[in-house]
Amino acid sequence: MNKDQAHDLRIKMNQQTEEHAHTIAVFSGKGGVGKSNFALNFSIALGQQGKKVLIFDLDIGMGNIDILLGLQPKNSLSTMLEKNLQISDIIEEGTQGISYIAAGTGLSDFFHLDQSKYNYFIQQLQFVASTYDYIIFDLGAGMSEEHLAFIQAADESIVVTTTEPTSITDAYAAMKRLIVHSSRDHLKISLLVNRAQSEQEAQIAFTKLESVVTKFLNYKLNFIGFIREDRTVVEAVKKQIPYYILNERGKAKKSLDQVITDFMNEPVKHKNNRQFISRVRSMFTRKVD
Ligand SMILES: Nc1ncnc2c1ncn2[C@@H]1O[C@H](COP(=O)(O)OP(=O)(O)O)[C@@H](O)[C@H]1O
Ligand SMILES: [Mg+2]
Repeated sequence: MNKDQAHDLRIKMNQQTEEHAHTIAVFSGKGGVGKSNFALNFSIALGQQGKKVLIFDLDIGMGNIDILLGLQPKNSLSTMLEKNLQISDIIEEGTQGISYIAAGTGLSDFFHLDQSKYNYFIQQLQFVASTYDYIIFDLGAGMSEEHLAFIQAADESIVVTTTEPTSITDAYAAMKRLIVHSSRDHLKISLLVNRAQSEQEAQIAFTKLESVVTKFLNYKLNFIGFIREDRTVVEAVKKQIPYYILNERGKAKKSLDQVITDFMNEPVKHKNNRQFISRVRSMFTRKVD
């Protein structure tokens, strides 16, 4: 970036300080539970409700939203920081009007960015936060330091599990680490049960987790709903077309529609909007200083 570009960018940033994106971090304990498929199709469904949505792949090195979309992104978060690109240069236009940022590789030391890169990252994030209605972060499996920080900074988080006991146990372990290390006032965690055979099966999985989370972590887990097991999800992955688009009458799409309806009907007052950037700033200050 040359001097003039930097100047232009600063002016642009100052004009767009009004942050309004609602930020949601999607995480899981175990990998392979359908987190990326959920994050992507949830974003597309929100897009179809007329919302401006950015899906931000933060699964550095393992991100695969681009594969699910059939895209081959030229740039990524990693190359933005390496080459000082503007965030608008790394945003890809995906299916159905949603925008997408690839994770890329090589950004292993996210928290040890030098001060100028860190300032630059915050500036760029501020720009997207003022441009989109929703930013959905797809995090990798497990609960690293980086995941903890992003979940704490986001307005809310969604933990994805299947109904398998191994997946439920790992979701609990991830939530435990998160809850123990966070201030509860700012934490909203909702459970999404993926690959459920029935509503009853999903409800049982939720009740199991809810009861241990209440008993041992003294935290009230929210339930955002479930997505049915659907063979056509596998077909959608193979065709690199999101299931929400590929199979309009599929069980997965229909259950996601129910999740979206409930989500959109939820009163906004429960969500602590408009503090994302300051929370990201403080999470970095904590690490950088
Ligand atoms: N609702 C579903 N029904 C059937 N299969 C599913 C469903 N959701 C996910 N899958 C399968 O799980 C695989 C892993 O999904 P993915 O979203 O990549 O998981 P993660 O991001 O958690 O690693 C998909 O490729 C697909 O085969
Ligand atoms: Mg994934």
